[in-house]
Amino acid sequence: MEKVIKVAPSLLSFNFGELNKEVNRIINAKADWLHLDIMDGVFVNNISFGIPVCETFKDAKIFKDVHLMIVNPHLYVDKFVELNANLITFHLEAYKKKSDVLDLIKKIKEKKIMVGISIKPETPLEYVLPYLKDVDLVLVMSVEPGFGGQSYIENATQRIKTLYDYIHSRGYKCLIEVDGGINEKTAKLAIDAGVDVLVAGSYLKDDKIKEKIQKLKKL
Ligand code: DX5
Ligand code: ZN
Repeated sequence: MEKVIKVAPSLLSFNFGELNKEVNRIINAKADWLHLDIMDGVFVNNISFGIPVCETFKDAKIFKDVHLMIVNPHLYVDKFVELNANLITFHLEAYKKKSDVLDLIKKIKEKKIMVGISIKPETPLEYVLPYLKDVDLVLVMSVEPGFGGQSYIENATQRIKTLYDYIHSRGYKCLIEVDGGINEKTAKLAIDAGVDVLVAGSYLKDDKIKEKIQKLKKL
């Protein structure tokens, strides 16, 4: 059976002056997931949007993929669950101790939503492997987190391949998502390497979003 690729537009690249209209445009374009980039200006060098903003589209009928680029993500999980998050992904670099990572995985799972972990491009891939049996998704950053509109870092392709082999040889259920610099060319590299979910911001923000989502799904 052929794999169905999911596309998750990143709201970060859309017009913040008309957020609800933009969320509806994303839904009408038949996006699979809505990717929400939460940045605190500490974990990354940028501040995006947070809880009160997400509240405005909490009832939007789309799967909400929350990407936390913040320190102390455990303090904010309850709030994002209240805002109808379907998946919460946090960064491994946010913690020093393995037990803290495992505690947060457990906490998110107890909320009966999906849990993901992510690593920055320069973090060794080995760090993430011990958690793959316990999570629903691993997010491979293909740019340095913080800003939309950057170019895809090539080493992401090999990282996806390695993760794919690791996950599938062990029969784990973990999905692989890629985030940063995704367009038709880089999406193809990621899909061939075994990715399941493509996040795309700047590539999808224009009025061709519906056609572009279909294109990405058929590469
Ligand atoms: C970067 C964010 C990405 C970003 C993707 O820190 O996690 O989700 O918005 O934007 P593009 O597709 O423009 O690289
Ligand atoms: Zn993201």
